[in-house]
Amino acid sequence: MSEHLHIERDAGLLTLRMQRPDKKNALTRAMYAGMAEVLDEAARDAAVRVVLLSGDEHCFTSGNDVADFLQAPPSGLNSEVFQFMRALFDFPKPVVAAVAGPAVGIGTTLLLHCDLVYVSRDAQLKMPFVNLGLCPEYGSSLILPRLLGHARAAELLLLGQSFSGEQAAAWGIANQALDDGPATLAKARAMALRFLELAPSAVADSKRLMRAPDREALRRVIEEEGVLFSQRLRSPEAVEALSAFMQRRKPDFSRFA
Ligand code: COA
Repeated sequence: MSEHLHIERDAGLLTLRMQRPDKKNALTRAMYAGMAEVLDEAARDAAVRVVLLSGDEHCFTSGNDVADFLQAPPSGLNSEVFQFMRALFDFPKPVVAAVAGPAVGIGTTLLLHCDLVYVSRDAQLKMPFVNLGLCPEYGSSLILPRLLGHARAAELLLLGQSFSGEQAAAWGIANQALDDGPATLAKARAMALRFLELAPSAVADSKRLMRAPDREALRRVIEEEGVLFSQRLRSPEAVEALSAFMQRRKPDFSRFA
């Protein structure tokens, strides 16, 4: 298991914390593999009733590790990031997310697959896929235009505009915006604990019904996005943008037609 994941069991609550503070909890292949494994095991373990997913009080996650994107981009739909995406997408029990600070890329799109989401008011959510020469992933190209309308989704997905926790709550991406990181983690935990008092099969049946209408279309879109995203990672545009991030400079797309 990755040293950058912290897993805690407390009765039926399993807390999965991304913990790589020196890199803003950027997700490595080992972290994705670990998170997929934890979710797959929790799905099978009747003692686990609910999962709480978080970073720390200052940062949720800065998304995929950019160095990994450059040096070891995912090579197919069985690579670690897709294992994680499938594990969360198929997870039959409730998942509650607590988001403070930055939630970048998959740090935002994974929230669309959680059941309850609590954010700090000043959290910074962002999907800078196009800015990195990439394209939307994890079903965001389907879910966000439906949830927000095309115009607002275009600001977020085409321009990569960032938005606050307060906006995420107002737009229905999150349930509630809290004052700060500690309040957000406490609220998310309190809400997760509520599931321990409910009938587990009734919760699972209800979650399945709520997700069912869009499920197969969404699965197809996630695959289509995944194929294109993997191709784009190898494109000169993406290599320029990702290298620029590592070199702390602005990308220069002027030579691309
Ligand atoms: N992958 C790899 N390293 C990352 C990272 C990522 N996604 N996000 C941050 N880091 C590293 C930085 O390179 C820096 O490392 P260093 O101290 O060795 O130089 C360290 O984490 C701190 O990041 P920094 O950018 O200095 O922090 P900040 O508070 O100014 O900004 C973010 C935080 C999250 C807004 C900013 O780091 C960021 O935009 N990260 C990239 C996010 C991204 O593009 N993700 C991929 C989306 S598809």
